[in-house]
Amino acid sequence: MLPTDILVREHRVIEQVLNCLEKILEQCTSENRLDAQSARQAIEFFRGYADRWHHGKEEAQLFPVMQANGFSGGCSPVMVMLREHALGRLYLQGMETAIEPAGGGDREAMKWFIQHGQSYLNLLREHIRKEDMCLFPAANHRLTEKDQEGLMAAFQRVEREKFNPQTCRTYLNLANELADRFGVPRVPEAEGGGSPA
Ligand SMILES: [Fe+2]
Ligand SMILES: [Fe+2]
Repeated sequence: MLPTDILVREHRVIEQVLNCLEKILEQCTSENRLDAQSARQAIEFFRGYADRWHHGKEEAQLFPVMQANGFSGGCSPVMVMLREHALGRLYLQGMETAIEPAGGGDREAMKWFIQHGQSYLNLLREHIRKEDMCLFPAANHRLTEKDQEGLMAAFQRVEREKFNPQTCRTYLNLANELADRFGVPRVPEAEGGGSPA
């Protein structure tokens, strides 16, 4: 297994919760109400799993190794990925700010929640597609076996040191709880992310 296989596996879980966010947004439009509790849980997942856990490994481990292997400079694909991570954080912040007033019936806040939510959905789906189809295959083509071994060890180290052992499990449970609530198919457990122990 390559380090990027772990990231690809995590992408499938992130997509599961993006599908739940899509259902939350559809509900906003069709029923003119926001399920504030589900929205908060989805944001908690995106912050904790998609950003800290998953983007954390990309930003602190994979991208620096790629940059050291020629994927560098202001217009490199790695820089584009970093900007997209940052933009995603802004959309999450925008959604979070709108939840309370939108949940209370404020129509303006509801419009902003939908706008930021749709932007986040489109951004992350496209971002994941680019990493799966272009960035990770390019990295695997360029990185040496030693780079890959070092990366795998670094992924496992960072997960051990920065998160408590229950962290990944907690977010996977949250992803499944949301999926079941919205009738979204669950990603099979073996594909559920987290580095091998
Ligand atoms: Fe990324
Ligand atoms: Fe990613």
